[in-house]
Amino acid sequence: MRLNFVASGLVLNIATANALQSHQNSARDSNITSITSSQAVNGSGQFIGYITCLKPLEPKTQYLPDASMMHQDGGNTGSTDYAGPIGKNITMSTFSTRIAPFLFDPSGGVTAGEPGTSGYSLKAVDPETLGAISSWSPPTNQTLNLAYIQQIAAGNDSIILVTSTQGRVFVVQRNNSVSPPTFTTSKDIDVSHVLQPGEQLLNGMYDTLSNIWFTTGVILGLAGTPENTTTVGYITPSDQISTIHLQNQAVENGIAVSNTTVYVVTGPPGGDTMNSTGNMYAFQAGGAGVKTVWSAPYDAGSKKQPGGFARGSGTTPTLLGNAYIAVTDHADTQTSLLIYHQTAQECEDAQLLCKVPIFAPGASAVDVGSIGHASEHGYSAVLFNDYNAPPIYPSANATASDINGAFNNMTIMAAGGVRVEIPLVGSDCKIAWEKDIRMKSVPILSTKTGLLYGYEQDIEDAENGEWVWYVTARNWETGDLVWKVQTGAGGSFNDDFQGNAIGKDGRLYQGVVGGIVALKDGDGAT
Ligand SMILES: *[C@@H]1O[C@H](CO)[C@@H](O)[C@H](O)[C@H]1NC(C)=O
Ligand SMILES: *[C@@H]1O[C@H](CO)[C@@H](O)[C@H](O)[C@H]1NC(C)=O
Ligand SMILES: *[C@@H]1O[C@H](CO)[C@@H](O)[C@H](O)[C@H]1NC(C)=O
Ligand SMILES: *[C@@H]1O[C@H](CO)[C@@H](O)[C@H](O)[C@H]1NC(C)=O
Ligand SMILES: *[C@@H]1O[C@H](CO)[C@@H](O)[C@H](O)[C@H]1NC(C)=O
Ligand SMILES: *[C@@H]1O[C@H](CO)[C@@H](O)[C@H](O)[C@H]1NC(C)=O
Ligand SMILES: *[C@@H]1O[C@H](CO)[C@@H](O)[C@H](O)[C@H]1NC(C)=O
Ligand SMILES: *[C@@H]1O[C@H](CO)[C@@H](O)[C@H](O)[C@H]1NC(C)=O
Ligand SMILES: *[C@@H]1O[C@H](CO)[C@@H](O)[C@H](O)[C@H]1NC(C)=O
Ligand SMILES: *[C@@H]1O[C@H](CO)[C@@H](O)[C@H](O)[C@H]1NC(C)=O
Ligand SMILES: *[C@@H]1O[C@H](CO)[C@@H](O)[C@H](O)[C@H]1NC(C)=O
Repeated sequence: MRLNFVASGLVLNIATANALQSHQNSARDSNITSITSSQAVNGSGQFIGYITCLKPLEPKTQYLPDASMMHQDGGNTGSTDYAGPIGKNITMSTFSTRIAPFLFDPSGGVTAGEPGTSGYSLKAVDPETLGAISSWSPPTNQTLNLAYIQQIAAGNDSIILVTSTQGRVFVVQRNNSVSPPTFTTSKDIDVSHVLQPGEQLLNGMYDTLSNIWFTTGVILGLAGTPENTTTVGYITPSDQISTIHLQNQAVENGIAVSNTTVYVVTGPPGGDTMNSTGNMYAFQAGGAGVKTVWSAPYDAGSKKQPGGFARGSGTTPTLLGNAYIAVTDHADTQTSLLIYHQTAQECEDAQLLCKVPIFAPGASAVDVGSIGHASEHGYSAVLFNDYNAPPIYPSANATASDINGAFNNMTIMAAGGVRVEIPLVGSDCKIAWEKDIRMKSVPILSTKTGLLYGYEQDIEDAENGEWVWYVTARNWETGDLVWKVQTGAGGSFNDDFQGNAIGKDGRLYQGVVGGIVALKDGDGAT
């Protein structure tokens, strides 16, 4: 049996009979062990590079509601104001537990999704041991959309909003004033009767009026069935439901919320169709239901790109300050970054501020949302190319015995990491740096350290069939590698399109096939 859950055009796969879970460690309060390299490894834990003290960046834009999500916040900036490791006396731990995404509440508590073999659930986890200290499961036969769970801070406690593909919306309260913390279901609303045939729920997010917004959709990735229509709607605090139905368009990503506006990108239906139109939408709750504040079409091409997941845009919308939105199109020959105004412009054409072609013609695709940042000098967005990326593990055709198989071969994918700068005034958007980086994971920017933390493979070793993996720290301003830590070798340490997160205590967590890799600066670190 194999379970998958999907995160922003990326899929976390769980093999139940996993050959890697060998060592038992009875000292821990669960069955979590360390991850074993599935190929011979020579330098696990090795630090290469130098210890940085880069100038901190300006703190990130605070979006309301104040949310913790897979893309870090309600604007999907992919950034955190917590300090990640700088590389000083760094230590690595590995854990054979598969949980994601990591959501942090202000008290330092961690809630994560667990796609367990007996069903998907929420866990309160110990930030150090990653052992579950509390658990919440939905009613029978409800499959949670773990990728896009939202946590809202509520004093020392938190509220977790999670939907099921079958059409239920759950509000779960985490109470931190008791130990262990408790989870209580405070709402369970079935919206399946307002969906169109063939639609599944995908997204759920609060706005600042306490409306719960939802969209249908599916991440094609491994197993998703293409949807041909979309429902976008909201549930008021008194449980009234309003919807809008979109024909011939499908959601394949997360959504963004800033105050009362919800941003949704749609693409052509995933089925066999020649429709090449996608749309960017802004919605609000109006007196008469869902109000389309603006919409603008984009070029979604005629087909999926090799290695890509998405039929249309592969990016969850990233808000840039309170001015712009970054998504990519899905044009056939070359992908472009599209920067839209958040507020409605006079006419549809003016909604797009600028369009920046990225990566090489004939070899460009993006399936992970931008990492965005706003400063007093302007805005920037970093994106990675995943054209011809190797498949997700385990693929429809692979079994656990293929752990060191071709899905690890990242030499086949087109290289490309790019930072685009968007000016405070005007529309002269420019590429600031472009590097031959091969990355398929979801990286994170720490504004405190100025480092972009990602996950990469040694390409020379890969040419020899040795899959050696590193957590990498790159300078946000230049894209240059500052340091890297070797995590392990073989498919068990492949990131498999998963993301990372940074906790309040500075610990960095990276998801891999075998579980979670954690890095932390050691004693003596500032
Ligand atoms: C550990 O694994 C055993 C055997 O699979 C299982 O019975 C037990 O419930 C597990 N314990 C925890 C804490 O998950
Ligand atoms: C590890 O060391 C062995 C023996 O020295 C060598 O054959 C192999 O290439 C090395 N592997 C890596 C990934 O460096
Ligand atoms: C769950 O699904 C199974 C298989 O479809 C079905 O037999 C069972 O009645 C369902 N249980 C509930 C509580 O809906
Ligand atoms: C949290 O639990 C404590 C102790 O049971 C209780 O007094 C408090 O009201 C709970 N808080 C919430 C928000 O439910
Ligand atoms: C807040 O949460 C922390 C950790 O979750 C807990 O130790 C502390 O007692 C809580 N404080 C209050 C006032 O409930
Ligand atoms: C979408 O349309 C295609 C082509 O008409 C069809 O094969 C497919 O079943 C539809 N998908 C859904 C979810 O209805
Ligand atoms: C493609 O989809 C758009 C919806 O954005 C629709 O307006 C248009 O008519 C469709 N074109 C075709 C050829 O189906
Ligand atoms: C959102 O609301 C806050 C608080 O009212 C305000 O400071 C901020 O400017 C608003 N953001 C936008 C984009 O309007
Ligand atoms: C599985 O194999 C079939 C037939 O060889 C091929 O068409 C398909 O693309 C493969 N799927 C994956 C995910 O590799
Ligand atoms: C990895 O892919 C490259 C390029 O397609 C190929 O030449 C090489 O043989 C592959 N390596 C392995 C070990 O399969
Ligand atoms: C490195 O950190 C560890 C604990 O994480 C500590 O025991 C050790 O003394 C530190 N080493 C140095 C050189 O500070």
